Amino acid sequence: MVSGLILSGIEPVWVEPRWDAERKLAHPPSAEDFERAFESHPDARGAVVTSPTPYGGCAALRAIAEVCHRRTRPLIVDEAWGAHLPFHADLPSWAMDAGADICVTSIHKMGSGLEQGSVFHLQGDLVPPGLLGMRADLLGTTSPSVLIFAGLDGWRRQMALRGEELMGGALDLAAEVRSAIEEIDGLHVNDRGDFCGPGLSDDFDPLPGVIDLAGLGITGFQAADWLREHRHIDAHLVDHRRIGMQITHGDDRETTGQLLEALSDLVRAARDLPRAPRVEVPSPAGLRMEQVVLPRDAFFGPAEDAPVARAAGRIAAEMITPYPPGIPAVLPGERLTEPVLAYLRTGLAAGMHLPDPTDPELDTVRVVAEGAR
Ligand SMILES: Cc1ncc(COP(=O)(O)O)c(C=O)c1O
Repeated sequence: MVSGLILSGIEPVWVEPRWDAERKLAHPPSAEDFERAFESHPDARGAVVTSPTPYGGCAALRAIAEVCHRRTRPLIVDEAWGAHLPFHADLPSWAMDAGADICVTSIHKMGSGLEQGSVFHLQGDLVPPGLLGMRADLLGTTSPSVLIFAGLDGWRRQMALRGEELMGGALDLAAEVRSAIEEIDGLHVNDRGDFCGPGLSDDFDPLPGVIDLAGLGITGFQAADWLREHRHIDAHLVDHRRIGMQITHGDDRETTGQLLEALSDLVRAARDLPRAPRVEVPSPAGLRMEQVVLPRDAFFGPAEDAPVARAAGRIAAEMITPYPPGIPAVLPGERLTEPVLAYLRTGLAAGMHLPDPTDPELDTVRVVAEGAR
């Protein structure tokens, strides 16, 4: 999405996520948040919301779509994590059923597609199909992969014939694994009660299981490294205090058994892991930086590398994204602040993966050149 802002030159109006200050994680904004954003920016041309988040929190899409449609504005949903949602009534509604105009879905995430198998869905008359096709063509390859298309078609067939049965099985398995993890001393798997309610998400996808490691005193980075090195298991989501696992229709008791065994072993090994380096996670307000230049202008304009110790107050000319979950902490055009830089530096020292800054060690940050504005 941020790449889209850079390429299109759009001036973004940010609708703040709902922050769980205790767990230090973000949930999608509410419909009222979108209402207020449109009221203060009546010329906004449309809205985008990410739902589900990589943590499994879901937005009230129907209500957000109504807010947009009252103004004849389209709602685009980043449903990257929701390929499975249409196929079982016990899963949160998917964007098209909720009345969104466009959603973008990664079939390679919660579906059976091959990597890069992502699709648009489009409905209604707010976005002309020809126009969307033209714009998508700008970014697409002229040599599409038959394998990727075959993967998408195989998934379509699989879901048409057995979707409900397979997703029902995944839901049962996820419930079983969630209770088993809860039984492991020191682990807590976040549930609907943790993620939904006033000021949090409106709905919840139980297939991603986000495991809070606060009881073990280790970071998600340490846990993910240990699982990869000693049990050949890759955590889906990793942050300063959590790891995530994805249960999908591809799992069975053999795969979940391996996971549960590995998690019990992790708990035993945690005692001998070095003390977790502290990640200085800013307050919700501390994470918000002022957007002072259009993302496109900051990204493509004259830039220079500033030593990180002198970068606060300068305007970022690059994106810096803790990955996973892949949500940029720094966008081009934002005025850098000390708390965000300290978060990224302490995160790096604790094992956070930052794939995109020009200096992977973050000794310097790419900023808009002095005098360029
Ligand atoms: C919320 C969200 N949107 C979009 C994407 C990108 O999707 P794709 O890899 O299909 O381009 C990701 C990838 O991790 C994501 O987490």
